[in-house]
Amino acid sequence: MNGEKRVLLSGMQPTGTGALHLGNYMGALRKWVQLQHEYEMFCFVADWHSLTTRFQETEKIAEAGRQVAADFIASGLDPSQCAIFLQSHVPEHAELHLLLSMITPIGWVERVPTFKEKRDLLSERGEGDESVSYGLLGYPVLQTADILVYRANSVPVGRDQAAHLEISRELARRFNRLYGNVFPEPQALIGEDSGSVMGLDGRKMSKSYGNAIYLSDTPEMISDKVRNAFTTPAKMRKTDPGVPEQCAVCQLRRLADPHGYMVSWEEDRAGERGCMQNKKELTEMLVEWLRPIRERRTALLENTGELDEVLRQGAEKARIRAAETMKLVRNAMHF
Ligand code: TRP
Repeated sequence: MNGEKRVLLSGMQPTGTGALHLGNYMGALRKWVQLQHEYEMFCFVADWHSLTTRFQETEKIAEAGRQVAADFIASGLDPSQCAIFLQSHVPEHAELHLLLSMITPIGWVERVPTFKEKRDLLSERGEGDESVSYGLLGYPVLQTADILVYRANSVPVGRDQAAHLEISRELARRFNRLYGNVFPEPQALIGEDSGSVMGLDGRKMSKSYGNAIYLSDTPEMISDKVRNAFTTPAKMRKTDPGVPEQCAVCQLRRLADPHGYMVSWEEDRAGERGCMQNKKELTEMLVEWLRPIRERRTALLENTGELDEVLRQGAEKARIRAAETMKLVRNAMHF
């Protein structure tokens, strides 16, 4: 297309307090930071998506959204390279969502595995049928609007989002067939190395497991978490051999020290290293690695004027592209 950069859209839904962890950083943010130089990039916080399960606590969603945005910027997303904004600041997402909802067969969204999982989770929590909303069923349709409103070519996502991206592609095709060609079919960019980060208890790092190291964690918090982290259960003495593949401390060390870990893993296997030594070294590496990110996010959240301004300008830039798309859409549909 006329020598312009291809368009990339990336987004994250705020969950819990909004603070992002090392799994989010390694699995998504780190790649986005590289991609911002290759694409015309739109990077947003999906705060409306949080309403699909948290409609009773909207004030928490607002705060969580700011935390996510601060973590985006602190991790290296550069507001002069990519538009950083909140979904709720760009009403075009909602208009396109409405129009797309009219051409979405119910069967398509009822079949999506994430819908069934969330529905079952809500009913297990005893929240009853009335917590499963029409909006939750439409989650992938709103996600499709997020993508198509920028006529995005590429969307970096994890494997768990593959079914949503499939809906987006099918809806783009269906719209184009019904009303004329407006949307490119968005491609999922699923990173080759999207292997997940091991959490402190040896399971996948996840907010819901309570096993995460957050970009906001202070040196004291990091030190406490690492001290209690899971290692090799059969390793009782320093001289017993370790199994670094199954040890949370060794796995995190591999991320924090990408060049030195091979040597230390050989020493672990040979029983030349103790877990205390590993934990101490890991703590130091994590503290140094995360310090600039934590300082930047803290500064952004304290000086809210700067963050508000970045988000305002990001939304302004996003709305230019989104408004162009909506013109094409309304034209195509004769409105
Ligand atoms: N569903 C994504 C998540 O759970 C968030 C999201 C919403 C998204 N809309 C999107 C991701 C559009 C990529 C593109 O994090």
